[in-house]
Amino acid sequence: MLGNFTYCNPTKLFFGKGAISSLTSELQKYGKNVVLIYGGGSIKKNGIYDEVVRCLDAADKNVREIAGVMPNPTRDKMNEGIAVAREHKADLLLAVGGGSVCDYAKAVAVSVNCDEDPWEKYYLRFEEPTCEIVPVGCVLTMVGTGSEMNAGSVITDTATKQKIGHVFADEKVMPRFSVLDPTYTFTLPRYQMVAGIYDIFSHICEQYFSGEDDNTSDYISEGLMRSLLVSSRAAIKDMTDYEARSNIMWTATWALNTLVAKGKTTDWMVHMLGQAVGGYTDATHGMTLSAVSLAYYRHILPYGLKKFARFAVNVWGVDPAGKTDEQVAGEGLAAMESWMRELGLVMNISELGATEDMLEGLADCTRTQTGGYKILSREEIIEIFRESL
Ligand code: NZQ
Ligand code: ZN
Repeated sequence: MLGNFTYCNPTKLFFGKGAISSLTSELQKYGKNVVLIYGGGSIKKNGIYDEVVRCLDAADKNVREIAGVMPNPTRDKMNEGIAVAREHKADLLLAVGGGSVCDYAKAVAVSVNCDEDPWEKYYLRFEEPTCEIVPVGCVLTMVGTGSEMNAGSVITDTATKQKIGHVFADEKVMPRFSVLDPTYTFTLPRYQMVAGIYDIFSHICEQYFSGEDDNTSDYISEGLMRSLLVSSRAAIKDMTDYEARSNIMWTATWALNTLVAKGKTTDWMVHMLGQAVGGYTDATHGMTLSAVSLAYYRHILPYGLKKFARFAVNVWGVDPAGKTDEQVAGEGLAAMESWMRELGLVMNISELGATEDMLEGLADCTRTQTGGYKILSREEIIEIFRESL
């Protein structure tokens, strides 16, 4: 391991069936004014809303709601929420939903006491908050993003089609606590479940495909990926398989809570390509990643050959005997492709609504990263998008 680092993750997790039973006592640690934030209404249908409200009542909270946080939350919705949280003098923002709701709560949390335009400050200039940050708590209902235990927050400006994520440096932006009950994810549509599974896998890959040193983080990543392959195959057979769904939930959290990035650089180019597609099409996050991944990885494979060969052997069980690194690495990506097809992921961006005439615009919205095996030129970015059509 060659890099220096600081590790601090203060999020307290309540994990398992019935974990909501800890919410009331946890809520008592915060002030009286709570803003309850949720999405388009799934929590009202599956009963999670009622369970959370019971806890808020038992803790004697004064509650205001922000409903209708959409997948890929927008700048306008963020501004609306900031006004509500200010008016209510929020002591705690309680996000009940998936990554979108949780990311949204963090965006509001850093903006309530900020007197600048938060989109410009945090998402265009990537500045850190200098104001007081309102605490966020989370009750997770959709697995994938890792937002329940990280300081990431992704917001979309529909006017400019820019979808931008800011991973805040201050751990005060991380949820103070998250309730993770795998049974809360049982009502997810299959499409969302598999998109989340691929999001997890992609997060691990983004941190794995970089560097050439021997690094503990990479071994942890391989273990997480192997667990995910087993659990995902079980979950697509039976979406109510608790063992599989609980493993997936736990893997998601560890895939993106900063642990497996320690001591190394990270890539994140698949996410940059996927986010550009998301900004243009408003497609489901995990599917934007699956649609661009193979074109990207086949493109960079020659620059990170040793790691791709290791990935093939250690994650996909490819037998390297008598083969060149190129053959082994190619077999690894082929195995990954067949797993992706098994899950039923979206394998091209056309299916998400992207068209040839968007390619230049997509390239304009793709932020080039420098931590992976190859710094992409604009021409290469366009080529990868074209191959992903
Ligand atoms: O809005 P509701 O009605 O709740 O429906 C949601 C939404 O339509 C539904 N859903 C969630 N839980 C459910 C459920 N439906 C039935 N039963 C349940 N238990 O699922 C849909 C998708 O939810 P969403 O929160 O949008 O999904 P996800 O968790 O994938 O979050 C996506 C957002 O997170 C960002 C993405 O870019 C995207 O904006 N990301 C955040 C990251 C972070 N904080 O670190 C990293 C990720 O790479 C990602 O970029
Ligand atoms: Zn992601």
